[in-house]
Amino acid sequence: MAGAERIQHLADAVRYHRELYYNHAAPEISDSEFDALWDELMHLDPTNDVLHQVGPEPLPGTVKVEHQFPMRSLDKGTSDEDIVHFVTQSTFGGQRYLAQPKLDGSALSLEYVAGNLHRAATRGSGERGEDVTLNAKLVANIPSRLNLPIDCHVRGEVVMPLATFEEKYREVSPNPRNLCSGALRQKHGDGKAEASDLVFCAYDVKFPNQTPPATNDSELLSWLQKAGIEPAPWQIFESDHPQNEMIGYTKEWSLKRSSYEFEIDGIVFKLDDLAQRENLGMTAHHPRWALAWKFPSQEANSVLLGVDWQTGRTGAVTPVARIAPQMVGGVTVENVTLHNVGEVERLGIKIGDKVKITRRGDVIPKIIENLGKASTIDLENRFHADGTSFVGDLAFHEVMIPKHCPACDRDLTMEGAFLRCLALECDARTARSLTYWCRTLEMDGIGEKLIEALLENGLIVTIADLYKLNHSQISELERMGDKSAYNVLDELAKTRTLNLARFLHALGMERIGPEVATTISQHFTSLEKLLIWIDEGEDQELTTIDGIGDKVAAIFRDGITKRRNLIDELSNIITIIDEAESASGIFDNKSFCITGSLSRPRKEIALAIKNAGGKVVGSVSSNLDVLVAGEKAGSKLSKAESLGVEIWTESALFEQIAEPKRAPKTLFDYDL
Ligand code: IVH
Repeated sequence: MAGAERIQHLADAVRYHRELYYNHAAPEISDSEFDALWDELMHLDPTNDVLHQVGPEPLPGTVKVEHQFPMRSLDKGTSDEDIVHFVTQSTFGGQRYLAQPKLDGSALSLEYVAGNLHRAATRGSGERGEDVTLNAKLVANIPSRLNLPIDCHVRGEVVMPLATFEEKYREVSPNPRNLCSGALRQKHGDGKAEASDLVFCAYDVKFPNQTPPATNDSELLSWLQKAGIEPAPWQIFESDHPQNEMIGYTKEWSLKRSSYEFEIDGIVFKLDDLAQRENLGMTAHHPRWALAWKFPSQEANSVLLGVDWQTGRTGAVTPVARIAPQMVGGVTVENVTLHNVGEVERLGIKIGDKVKITRRGDVIPKIIENLGKASTIDLENRFHADGTSFVGDLAFHEVMIPKHCPACDRDLTMEGAFLRCLALECDARTARSLTYWCRTLEMDGIGEKLIEALLENGLIVTIADLYKLNHSQISELERMGDKSAYNVLDELAKTRTLNLARFLHALGMERIGPEVATTISQHFTSLEKLLIWIDEGEDQELTTIDGIGDKVAAIFRDGITKRRNLIDELSNIITIIDEAESASGIFDNKSFCITGSLSRPRKEIALAIKNAGGKVVGSVSSNLDVLVAGEKAGSKLSKAESLGVEIWTESALFEQIAEPKRAPKTLFDYDL
């Protein structure tokens, strides 16, 4: 067959078999036969439309979806005290809480337009996920059409029944969670599990174009049921002191966890009232109105076989323990973190010791106890993750603490419990900072291997060099084709414009994660102002921001100062967009003081003010914008009056704060 004819034949075949597979669940050829067609077409005509746009629905993983409502994380707790703390922080007397099992699967957002499933996306970074509509449609209990012609975004977890896992997949995967995300993101049935073996359990719904049809979360869950979507089971707590019952609920679930239909890793507690949620607001990372209580971690014993030292992005040289393979919570573990030198000393461990390890959910496993010298029996009957037998001998000796950086051989310095390589130009630090930059900015296809190849070939030294690469430099690298090189350039181009918070986060400074980076960016609003602070400011200016202490302020200043050249160079290459001031709202830049006896607890009022962008201060001065005065307000009220400060009642304040608007009695109500 001539070239053009062959391409046409392949394109038709891919289209035909894909239609059968996805839309009729009736494939006529095997996955590998399909892959062969796909690969040949990819080889002959990589830009062929069929490979890139699949009618209205792209292949999973090929298109990123900006979440209209970001998919946030939850604050975590593990103890009874964490529940008590959550309730005291979020309750203002007599609140109602809703609890649901925390399902351990893969989060999914389903966008319905006029009741029709329009798009399904993974959580991804929380801001952007991957389009997985094709696979989501294969999940049996995800309806293509709701019982109501409504626009909504349904959020939930895709899980696999444990019975299905045991029956079909135990051999191929250590846990159902990995299978769920794999099944959603697979391209053409090339994953380990079939999407039709998954179940969707909803826990939230958002309405892009109208006010919610209810004022409580629990009512929304009932509404979802009527609309044709199955929510995760829920329970309401509404006594004066609900914490005791909530703690009791975690104990109940700890007992029934193993016999439950799906894998769960805790209980999620949430305030039920949507208006109260609004008033409590969010941190940059999680809502203040919810707590994910996680089951205590799982523990097991193993043997310490050796310790490797690795220099990280921030220069900390971390000990990683190699242990005899051990299953903990369904996963075979062979490497565990020892955090820092201080931890090695605290545990007093030696090579050849028996150790207790712990693993909680997706957290990196760690050693928590030294159980003394191991014996050969402790090494018996152990298997690697791939099922092969472990063979190893016992050796006994001290853990050697390095004096020189394992990557660049420079002298190491002890800082508190940490061993550090202070050289920013250390190879390991450079490589890790570069990968951190690319990972934080979600550049697909630019990983550790490519960064190493670029470094080894002398094509880059700093992050700024990434943006100077050209096509021929990249495509000449081993295993890098023409197409992949273009993809790398495309991914880099996407990050030529960044907002300040993402920029600061991606620099990878110690302690400056997304939350702190956002807080700091909202404070300074522009890189220019931030650099002025570096040049002449005081650390104190930063410590006035909620959540930033002396230590972080000093570390931040130091981190920026050390990277000053890089920042200057980068700001000439990429565009760094100014940040909106913190918690922008109707009270932006306004200061409030609260006094007198009020109907709501002071904390609730203060949070509502902060959430609307205002600042709450403790005393009255001429700089104060508003005094919120309740009954029996005393000296503060008279002082405010004499200074001419504006005085509001509590109800005047709450009239100003945009309460979530209630839906008028419409369409939704008769369905509740
Ligand atoms: S509520 C603002 N409820 O846990 C976020 N999340 O750690 C509202 N999850 O990304 C989430 N079961 O994927 C909620 N019953 C449940 C859940 C649940 C599992 C997951 C969810 C989320 C993660 C947060």
